[in-house]
Amino acid sequence: MADLPLLNTYGRLPIVFDHGRGPWLYDTDGNRYFDTFCGIAVSGLGHAHPAITQAIADQAARLMHCSNLFHTGIQQSLARKLCDISGMDGVFFANSGAEANEAALKLARLYGHNRGIHSPAVLVMDRSFHGRTLATLTATGNRKVQAGFEPLVSGFVRAPYNDLDAVSAIARSNPNIVAVLLEPIQGEGGLQVADPSWLQGVREICDHQGWLMMLDEVQTGNGRTGNYFAYQTFGVTPDVVTTAKGLGNGFPIGACLARGEAARTFQPGHHGSTFGGNALACAAASAVIDTLEKDQLMARAREVGDRIRSRLEQAFAGADYVRSIRGIGLMIGVELTSPCAELVPLAKTQGLLLNVTAERVIRLLPPLTLTDEEADTMVDQLIRILRLYAADDRQSPRSNEGPKGSQTP
Ligand SMILES: Cc1ncc(COP(=O)(O)O)c(C=O)c1O
Repeated sequence: MADLPLLNTYGRLPIVFDHGRGPWLYDTDGNRYFDTFCGIAVSGLGHAHPAITQAIADQAARLMHCSNLFHTGIQQSLARKLCDISGMDGVFFANSGAEANEAALKLARLYGHNRGIHSPAVLVMDRSFHGRTLATLTATGNRKVQAGFEPLVSGFVRAPYNDLDAVSAIARSNPNIVAVLLEPIQGEGGLQVADPSWLQGVREICDHQGWLMMLDEVQTGNGRTGNYFAYQTFGVTPDVVTTAKGLGNGFPIGACLARGEAARTFQPGHHGSTFGGNALACAAASAVIDTLEKDQLMARAREVGDRIRSRLEQAFAGADYVRSIRGIGLMIGVELTSPCAELVPLAKTQGLLLNVTAERVIRLLPPLTLTDEEADTMVDQLIRILRLYAADDRQSPRSNEGPKGSQTP
């Protein structure tokens, strides 16, 4: 596959997929694989969900696109649904997570300028991930994502995640901060879960300083943590929230939602997108929300997530190669004591598609539609593969370090 006419941006496994159904993907040779991470938190209702397929087909037959110089009923109704769910006052529709975050970053700068801050800065976190555009890769707390793309965008200040003293110190020393952007659970950063008291403390600092609290829920949103947005689980309300990924179950759509003064900041001409809020994308997202609600899938994410985590905790209690099992709902990380990228090709030979992030964290993001039986199939496979991997490691050891523990806020 080396000579394919594709720019070389991904390290891909040599599998060609043809179709999917629920948590399963089928390759062109007819082999079946269990997809444990849903295209990185995208197909939250599973592959080829009939309600989404039908909604897209019906909308395609009526109207796929018209300019944002006009209204469509489907865009209006999706905006209303999202605002009702989130408590926000308005939505800007984009096509991806990075674009939703770009909208938030532009909104924050404009909000700052409106308040007389002419060099506004946004506070972002170590180990964060916000996308691959120039502004969002600058916001991202990972040098690997930034290296080679300098000069980076100005106007970002960084703090360690879950460290309220660091945020307070920056609030005292930097008058140019206008907003903070953070993920309630860092996905790419290795399933780091925010401490609820840290989030509440950041909220208080934002209120005191007049900063916008902006949450990147591109990965955590759309029901995955047991509520539509993770902030509803943590008991804080942001001023701006962004999402994408599971919003369209595979149809590209992103959204930047805002409330209060933040929602009144953009005026015509400040921001835009040809395809943002496209009728087809809105029909897909609207059907996703209806299905999440009708089938009570958010409660299900919490229930099946607890089942998966407790089975993994039981299986690996005392295993010296597992450092921690953590997460909320169907966003679960299994952190090993040493880098484990080799697990991915090994799991593939066993029919399991795995994602490893931050070098040593197996990230499980299965669909919210998972039955108990499917969840058990996934867990049984993972346990078997990890034990195989660890036994192999004992024959030719990798480096082992650090304590083992489990954290489930
Ligand atoms: C938290 C977060 N923000 C932003 C992005 C970027 O989203 P996209 O790839 O749709 O641009 C991602 C993608 O992984 C993400 O996890």
